[in-house]
Amino acid sequence: MSTPSDSTVLAPDITVLGVAGSPRRRATHYAVNEVLEYAADKHGVAVDSYSLHRKDIGFCRHCDYCVRKQQGCIIEDDMAELYPKLLAADAWILASPVYQGQISGQLKAALDRCRALVASDQHAFRDKVGAGLCVGGDRSGGQEPALLALIGFFIINEMVPVGGGSFGANLGAAVWSRDKGAAGVKADEEGLAASHRTVDRLVRMTRLLRAAAAGGEAR
Ligand SMILES: Cc1cc2nc3c(=O)[nH]c(=O)nc-3n(C[C@H](O)[C@H](O)[C@H](O)COP(=O)(O)O)c2cc1C
Repeated sequence: MSTPSDSTVLAPDITVLGVAGSPRRRATHYAVNEVLEYAADKHGVAVDSYSLHRKDIGFCRHCDYCVRKQQGCIIEDDMAELYPKLLAADAWILASPVYQGQISGQLKAALDRCRALVASDQHAFRDKVGAGLCVGGDRSGGQEPALLALIGFFIINEMVPVGGGSFGANLGAAVWSRDKGAAGVKADEEGLAASHRTVDRLVRMTRLLRAAAAGGEAR
């Protein structure tokens, strides 16, 4: 006989967006989708994803159209697909391959273009929670500087950055692909464990903030 709890399926309360910041659908793409699946299975959240693979996303030109007009970005390209996803999600996992010890130029270009949203609404991303997932070909190839770049972006844009906690996931998810694409990520058990701990923290912090907001809007 079923009890009420057997048949109760709770609707997802928050949405986690994963952005794969590689021009390829390999290690980073696999890693971010793996953690989104984990987030949905373990925490019952809704997930959304976006990949920069084969996307046309130009550099910010600092024309200041967005600041003057407050109508978004003057450049018409694939950022139009990403903007609404960024705005709709409660929490983001920004994933990047490590390039020269930093995030990829592709992801940096997309993040710079976010200025256009914040120019029309300074609080566009306020209180969203953000975590980084950086995938290097080397074990210590610059994952942490790349994670710090993402943490800086979150702070600058009024978001709440999280890592996965000490003893393994300090600044977020640092993954080692050995330049072997998805197979390398799958073999990096420590990197995946750190990624899962980062997701645990991301979801916990997002729910705490939503509960606090429901109890009364912060001033
Ligand atoms: C331009 C470029 C620069 C790179 N620089 C680094 C680096 O500084 N440190 C590192 O560990 N790996 C570096 N790599 C290797 C990639 O980070 C690694 O292969 C990663 O897994 C690629 O992710 P993807 O398969 O999602 O594209 C670099 C790769 C490229 C193409």
